Amino acid sequence: MARTASDHGSSAPRDVEQDQASGRFLPDRVDEASRRQIGWWLVLMALLVGLMVVVGGATRLTDSGLSITEWRPVTGAIPPLTTEAWQAEFDKYKQIPEYKLVNQGMTLAEFKTIFWWEWGHRFLGRFIGFAFLFPFVFFVLKRKVERGLAPKLLIMFVGGGAQGALGWFMVQSGLVDRVDVSQYRLAAHLAAAFLIFAYILWIALDLLMPQLRSKRSDLVRLRNWATLLTVLVFIQVILGAFVAGLHAGLSYNTWPLMDGQLVPAGYLFQSPWYLNLFENIAAVQFNHRMAAYAVTAVIVALVIMGRSKSSAIAVRQWLHVLLGLVGVQVGLGIWTLLAVVPLWLALAHQVGALLLFAASIVLTHSLFSLTAGHRQLTTA
Ligand code: HEM
Repeated sequence: MARTASDHGSSAPRDVEQDQASGRFLPDRVDEASRRQIGWWLVLMALLVGLMVVVGGATRLTDSGLSITEWRPVTGAIPPLTTEAWQAEFDKYKQIPEYKLVNQGMTLAEFKTIFWWEWGHRFLGRFIGFAFLFPFVFFVLKRKVERGLAPKLLIMFVGGGAQGALGWFMVQSGLVDRVDVSQYRLAAHLAAAFLIFAYILWIALDLLMPQLRSKRSDLVRLRNWATLLTVLVFIQVILGAFVAGLHAGLSYNTWPLMDGQLVPAGYLFQSPWYLNLFENIAAVQFNHRMAAYAVTAVIVALVIMGRSKSSAIAVRQWLHVLLGLVGVQVGLGIWTLLAVVPLWLALAHQVGALLLFAASIVLTHSLFSLTAGHRQLTTA
């Protein structure tokens, strides 16, 4: 049975209080205040994951990602503290192709700069782990975690750990035979980050916005389109990762045409054809541009559809937010391309992608809430 506003009233019903006070680690239900506390904590966690994405982007854009050639989840938290330790770290870096072929002659001071970016990215990962674990234990001890929520929190924690391992798997691909990481692993790492972000945000919204639940069947079509939008933005993020991973933003720096053509020559240059989707700079950049237009078109369609749903004011507001965000994001993408990928613009473009994705998730979640009763009636 879907929860309704009355299930989550600000004063906890007596049986909920008794359940929470009964001494069981995971009560069946908790009061509204506990749900809100956990919800806001999860919003904070989603923000930290977003920050992690941006620091990861800066690490990549400053070519710092291969500076630490080992994965030591515990001891790696301590950076080199003596000149000898710095030199030993630098010597390890000197063994990899990136140093030999790209950074030959780099000074120790220059090495320290790229080291701190990568170290900062990994340190933030560890920090997020603790910022998750300690409040989680606190909330469990305080009997604030509902039985149904516990597995979801566990998925987040395990997902975060797996993401660390995936990051190392990505770094490994750049330590032998090549001077850069594999674009496939980069895309997997970025996609996993966006998935974790989406999951945390969705669960946070479940906890913070239960009052929306209703039975509006007239919004089902809008809900389906919003779901499509979220999936499309996610695909666009993966396409963006391939643009980034192949350094495709350093070519075809014109808009709207690519080398004077709408479809660039050499779009299907590679064989078999599907390799072009992942390994051909022209095709990867073209696909990213086209997907941007598709995302924009879906948002415009949603705004038009949503206009008539006059009573769903919150939904209409989010549609306008999305319209503004996609305009800014497409503008930032074009600017990033025309300016040949300066650090700050590429980072702004990445933040834009996160905001667009977040807004799309909030809209989709709201529409799922608004149509939840309807879903139950039709599936009963
Ligand atoms: C819905 C719109 C868009 C979204 C959600 C989006 C998202 C992204 C994402 C997530 C990345 C990867 C960033 C990274 O890994 O650091 C990226 C990269 C990139 N995007 Fe977009 N993008 C959009 C539209 C555009 C447009 C219209 C253009 C240009 C015509 C563009 C040009 C680029 C370029 C050049 C890069 C590579 C930047 C780099 O190397 O760091 N994007 N995009």
